[in-house]
Amino acid sequence: MKSLRVFVTRRIFPEAVDLLSAVAQVEVWPDDEPPTPAQLLEKAEGVHGLLTNVMDRVDGGLLDAATELKAISQLSVGLDNVDLVAATRSGLPVSNTPGVLAKSTADLGFGLLLDAARLISRGDRWVRAGHWQLAHHPMHWLGSEVHGATLGILGMGQIGLEMAKRGMGFDMKVIYHSRTRKPELDAEYGMEYVERDMLLSSADFVCLHLPLTAQTRHYIGETELRAMKPTAVLVNMARGPVVDSKALYTALNEGWIQAAGLDVTDPEPIPVDDPLLTLDNLIISPHIGSASLDTRRATCLMAARDLVAGLQGEPMEHCVNPEVYQA
Ligand code: DGY
Repeated sequence: MKSLRVFVTRRIFPEAVDLLSAVAQVEVWPDDEPPTPAQLLEKAEGVHGLLTNVMDRVDGGLLDAATELKAISQLSVGLDNVDLVAATRSGLPVSNTPGVLAKSTADLGFGLLLDAARLISRGDRWVRAGHWQLAHHPMHWLGSEVHGATLGILGMGQIGLEMAKRGMGFDMKVIYHSRTRKPELDAEYGMEYVERDMLLSSADFVCLHLPLTAQTRHYIGETELRAMKPTAVLVNMARGPVVDSKALYTALNEGWIQAAGLDVTDPEPIPVDDPLLTLDNLIISPHIGSASLDTRRATCLMAARDLVAGLQGEPMEHCVNPEVYQA
C-alpha cells in the first residue's frame, strides 16, 4: 500500500489518474457537482497532494487544515481560486498548466469574436424561431467586418499571443496592452504596444486575456466601456469579474458598444434570470475555452506530472511560487 495520498477534485482522464496512482493512493471526487468548501476541507485533511480545479476555493483555512500537504497542482492556467501567498508562506509548491491550453483557448476566443461580429448565434436563434420568411435581403443581417479591423488585446501572455496570431491570419491590425511591453513580439509579429486608453478607443475588437487579481477586478467598467467605439465588440476569455457585469449590461443595452462574447461570467454559472441573458447582442459560452478533447487530456497529464514531482519532493516543472524551493 502506498503511503502517499492524493485527492483529485474532479474526474479527469484515466491516463492522468494512472500517473498519480503509480506513486500514491488516489481518491477522485466522483460527482459532477464539485465538492463544497467544507467537503474539500475534509478531503484535504491528511492528503499529501491536491489536484484542484478553477472552482475550488484553496484558501488559508484549507491550507492550515491540510497539514500533510506537499504540493498542489491546479488544472488551469488561472489561479485566482488559490491563495498563493498563504501557500508560499506554508512552503507549499503550487503548479498550473500554462501554454498547453493557449491555442485552444484562443481558437474559442476567435470563434466568439467571429460570432459576435457576424451574428452567427443570433441568426441561428432567429432561424430556429421560424423568423426566416424572406429568402434574402441586401439590407438585413449586416454584421461588422473582421478582416482589416483592429484587434486590441489586453494581456499579452501565451493566450493573448495566440489570439493575435489568429487576428493576423484574418488580416487584422493587432495592437496590445500588457503589464510589460514585449518589444520582441512587436518585432517578430509587427504588432504594436499602446496605452490602455488608446487601445480602448481605437480597437474594433477588445479581447481580454488577463489573470484575475485585485488590480484587474472590474478592469473593464463603465468608464472603459464608454471609451470604446460604439461599433466595438468585447470578448472576455479571462475571468468574469475582470468585467463589471452591470456596466456591461447597460453598455450593450444602450448601445455604447455593439456586442460582446463571453466565455466567462460573474458569477459562474450565470443565473438564468441574469439580465445579460435577455440581450440579443451578447453570446456566452460556458467557460469552455480550453475544453477540446486533446487539450484537456494534455492539460490533465501536465497537472498530474507536476503533482507526481511535487509528491516526490522534486521541483514541479510549472511551479508558480518557486521561491518555496529556495526556503
Ligand atoms: C484556465 O486555464 O484558467 C481556464 O480558464 C480553465 O479552463
